[in-house]
Amino acid sequence: MRPLVATIDLAAIRHNYAVAKRCAPGREAFAVVKANAYGHGVREVVGSLPEADGFAVACLEEAAEVRRVNAEARVLLLEGCFEPAEYHSAAQLALDVVVQGAEQAEALLAAQLPGPLNVWLKLDSGMHRLGFAADQLRHWHARLAGATQVAELNLLSHFACADERGHPLTEQQVEAFLDLLDLDFDQRSLANSAAILTIPAAHMDWLRPGIMLYGATPFVDLTAKELGLRPAMCLTAQLIGLRDVAVGESVGYGACWVAQRPSRIGTVSCGYADGYPRHAPSGTPLVVRGQRVPLAGRVSMDMLAVDLTDLPEAQLGDAVELWGAQLPVDELAQACGTIGYELLTKVTARVPRRYRSF
Ligand SMILES: Cc1ncc(COP(=O)(O)O)c(C=O)c1O
Repeated sequence: MRPLVATIDLAAIRHNYAVAKRCAPGREAFAVVKANAYGHGVREVVGSLPEADGFAVACLEEAAEVRRVNAEARVLLLEGCFEPAEYHSAAQLALDVVVQGAEQAEALLAAQLPGPLNVWLKLDSGMHRLGFAADQLRHWHARLAGATQVAELNLLSHFACADERGHPLTEQQVEAFLDLLDLDFDQRSLANSAAILTIPAAHMDWLRPGIMLYGATPFVDLTAKELGLRPAMCLTAQLIGLRDVAVGESVGYGACWVAQRPSRIGTVSCGYADGYPRHAPSGTPLVVRGQRVPLAGRVSMDMLAVDLTDLPEAQLGDAVELWGAQLPVDELAQACGTIGYELLTKVTARVPRRYRSF
């Protein structure tokens, strides 16, 4: 079997969910499990969080998967229904739905449903991606309140810059949200991970933690460890080749890495077809025998090379941590000019996930 595995620590995810809840006592929380629970496996993650108040997903297909595992919890469709026929399925699955545009709202009012839905009207408070402007939101609040298709009528919005502490847009977004306090909503939701961790004024009734559940940080200047989060995924490969290269010899495609000293090169069983970023530059850290060693040359489809010259005890078969407990995914992401979210969600289907829950 190919020696590459993503080990998922379900106990860490439970711990991180509890951290979110502790940040905002008395509030409820949708665990955000879209994109296959940020790459961690939606069935396993949902199954390991029976205490979660609810789950949030991006589409009906993801919601159906959550429902199969948890018959009771609230399941929120973050972008709402993409076509009118989806409302019927959403009602059958007893979902909560976001309504973020006039077409969605009209389709809801025209729908014949087996039961009423909890509806979350989305305010565009400044991100300008989805949602109603304040005056439109007031209009739709009036039209949807009391409609037979609507059970709870709730308010939701999303931050653009909560991960950049002190960004002026965040305060404007909170103000835009609070400007609608005169409207009668059953529940309100505004906070993603960054706001849960640092903006108590944004906590409202329902939190929406995503990245923090998986033990990564939304911030550039605060590590997951500093936030009390435990990493949930460890991506581990093996040294499957070892060789000495002389000064002036190159390694890998494009012959981009050239030995400046007599060097020992290890070949590692992980490549870009597994989700490791192809654009990771030489020097990006990996961990062998508890020590950081630098990536050497271009990442191949199924393999990459590491410079082991400063780790002479390394042997064929040694485990190589691409990210995890010893090397935070956020650190690799920074080295590659991306974010932990992207690395976690891009671990491909061919990488087996192994689960532990202790
Ligand atoms: C609407 C919405 N709410 C909450 C989240 C969770 O955000 P985070 O992973 O930063 O906690 C997301 C994720 O992108 C989202 O789109």
